[in-house]
Amino acid sequence: MSDSGSTMNGRILGISLAAAMGGFLFGFDTAVINGAIDAMSEDFGISGFLQGFAVSSALLGCVVGAWLAGPMASRQGRVRVMVIAAALFFVSAIGSGLAFGTWDLIAWRALGGLGVGAASVIAPAYIAEVSPADVRGRLGSLQQLAIVLGIFAALLSDAFLADVAGGAAEELWLGQEAWRWMFLAEAIPAAIYGLLALTIPESPRYLVDQHREEEAAEVLRKYTGVKDTATKIKEIHHSLKREAKESLGDLRGASMGLKPIVWVGIALAVFQQFVGINVIFYYSTSLWRSVGFDESQALTTSVITSVTNVLVTIVAILLVDKVGRRPLLIGGSIGMAVTLGTLAVAFSQAQGSGEDVSLPQPWGTVALVAANLFVVSFGATWGPIMWVMLGEMFPNKIRATAVSVASAINWVANFVVSTTFPTLSEISLSLAYGLYATFAFLSLLFVLWKVPETKGRELEDMTDDARQSKART
Ligand code: GLC
Repeated sequence: MSDSGSTMNGRILGISLAAAMGGFLFGFDTAVINGAIDAMSEDFGISGFLQGFAVSSALLGCVVGAWLAGPMASRQGRVRVMVIAAALFFVSAIGSGLAFGTWDLIAWRALGGLGVGAASVIAPAYIAEVSPADVRGRLGSLQQLAIVLGIFAALLSDAFLADVAGGAAEELWLGQEAWRWMFLAEAIPAAIYGLLALTIPESPRYLVDQHREEEAAEVLRKYTGVKDTATKIKEIHHSLKREAKESLGDLRGASMGLKPIVWVGIALAVFQQFVGINVIFYYSTSLWRSVGFDESQALTTSVITSVTNVLVTIVAILLVDKVGRRPLLIGGSIGMAVTLGTLAVAFSQAQGSGEDVSLPQPWGTVALVAANLFVVSFGATWGPIMWVMLGEMFPNKIRATAVSVASAINWVANFVVSTTFPTLSEISLSLAYGLYATFAFLSLLFVLWKVPETKGRELEDMTDDARQSKART
């Protein structure tokens, strides 16, 4: 272990916040469609499959963006990827807002998805690389805080614009309907993100890899408070092993073709989605309506849920570097298994099916409380910690590429859950929540057996082998 400074300072917080702004756009972009979809579908005369595709096309873009971002970050640098992501967000916001019809809207949304995918890789990797070890969890959790604030901001902005226009389908300013302004609004945070990205330094790990040691020393000194920069740079060199550039081939290993630690990252990414969190965020309105709420009560409840999500993320930020990653993940898995199990039981009492499902009392209240406690269990644990761990758990040599692969798979898993939910819920909502509860339970076993504690460890000490990492804690 080397001296890597031990205190949080304003500069490191500033550059971490700038990088986390990518998370804000991630949240904003994935949630903004909620308020626009119905009015947009009405305007373009679409429904069913095309409507679903207009929503999910962005997720497919995310998969590709995440996949490409890592290798690109290894070659071109972390900051360059942020600037490109910001440009993609900006262009997608304008394009979606001014779309002529369904297909170009789908294309613009997919383009924005490329940005979301890239941001989901680059923010955790960059923050982990610039942070001192003892506050890395807190700084890394800023990404999730930004994501949930982005979801919240999109929800508010959608509601505000629809309100001013008197409905999402009504004309607002410059002869454009409110739903178009919902997309256009994203251009503002996109521009801010791009400008911020232009002002932050490159990651010292990337600089060393590029043989730009002097710049790396400067960043380490100025931001991370490292005094003995020569030793630190030597350690980074050592862990990079200098030879070849990072590539997908570096992830290969003895465990079913991949290094064990890469499998751990992939499994974390899959479990984070298979517990069904985005069913709450993407389909909340229909969920709340089934517990007997009218449309405006349903919207209010969605806002409350997203505020809850913001608040519990702050709890995670306070805890992550004190209690560690594993205890939080374990507590989260238990909480999620119990609350999802409760939802499965509550919905087994449902009457009707599909869109017309309703819950008799007291099961409606039980479902409402359980769903919110599920968001609490997820938001204080798996939500932020999966992203923190992806940023820090891999060795320097494979970090950007491994984060890329695991994030891309997180987006595939997100896509699978959100596209299968409508069909599953037509069969039985109880079955859907029962499945998510099962995954929550499996995630518990997985953490207990396979996930190493990374709290407080130097990135240079991360190894390729998950079990070995665990033994070192
Ligand atoms: C995590 C998930 C993301 C989800 C969000 C909700 O960031 O990765 O898919 O929308 O949490 O809080």
